[in-house]
Amino acid sequence: MTLETSIGKVKLKGPGMVASGIMDETGPSMVRMLSSGAGAVVTKSIGLEPKAGHQNPCFTEVKGGFVNAMGLPNPGIDLFKDEMDVAVKAGPIIGSIYGANADEFAKLAGKMEDYGACAVELNLSCPHAKGYGMELGTDPATVKKIVGAVKDAVKIPVWAKLTPNTDSVADIGVAVQEAGGDAVVAINTLKAMVISPELRRPVLSNKFGGLSGPAVRAVGVRAVYDLYAALDIPVIGVGGISDAHDALQYIMAGACAFQVGSAVAKNGPDVFNMINKGLEAFMFDNNYSSIGEMVGVAND
Ligand code: DHB
Repeated sequence: MTLETSIGKVKLKGPGMVASGIMDETGPSMVRMLSSGAGAVVTKSIGLEPKAGHQNPCFTEVKGGFVNAMGLPNPGIDLFKDEMDVAVKAGPIIGSIYGANADEFAKLAGKMEDYGACAVELNLSCPHAKGYGMELGTDPATVKKIVGAVKDAVKIPVWAKLTPNTDSVADIGVAVQEAGGDAVVAINTLKAMVISPELRRPVLSNKFGGLSGPAVRAVGVRAVYDLYAALDIPVIGVGGISDAHDALQYIMAGACAFQVGSAVAKNGPDVFNMINKGLEAFMFDNNYSSIGEMVGVAND
């Protein structure tokens, strides 16, 4: 029995990756996650210039998850090289990048490739950054342009992280595939808001943000199911996974690998070892010898 899995050309020792935005801002935190059972780490989304992000409060807990609007804080791609130098020695690192247009994405992807990333993940889905993320990632023509430009700029695989804040995530997935994208990642956070009745105003300084955690899992599983049916390229599942049972839902919907974010924040880095043990137990009990045998089995 093996937990090894492949996302196209990217081979992982385990199917669980650290999702972008958690324990992935520094070299040492990425090394820590790789030594805690994660098969790979996706970096915090990095842009061309340093960005301070939003003022506090930028993160709050709700029933079933978290709502955050960090504001894409990051040191900028040039300074991030120091973190990549440390992280890539420890295991597979996927460079998450955000930009305002195809040209910016292409430049960032080239640098991530130079720094040793095994793939790039295009953030086409941050739900609350003006001019970035979801504003680009809900228009198939724009998605095609960005993915096409990045494909021309790098040799490493190009993944696109999609937003659920659209009427058809599969249409966006088709645009990624038509532009030569190597995989889709679904889902990013859902548009959300929390209000403090005592303060009579929104809790987050940015007013609204993105919902993650167990509350979004059923939305993510459905998105992966739709994408698996519509596409030939691999699908990676993310959204509300905190145990093996959650991960298996995504795998059986069609994901060949998955990412974990909120559960790392809630339960700590050991969540990957716990999920891996649970997957092995399920596979033993149900006579599966590989992750690949379970991918998409819930589809007709
Ligand atoms: C941020 C970016 C995201 O892609 C997301 O889903 C949530 C938050 C951010 O840095 O603000």
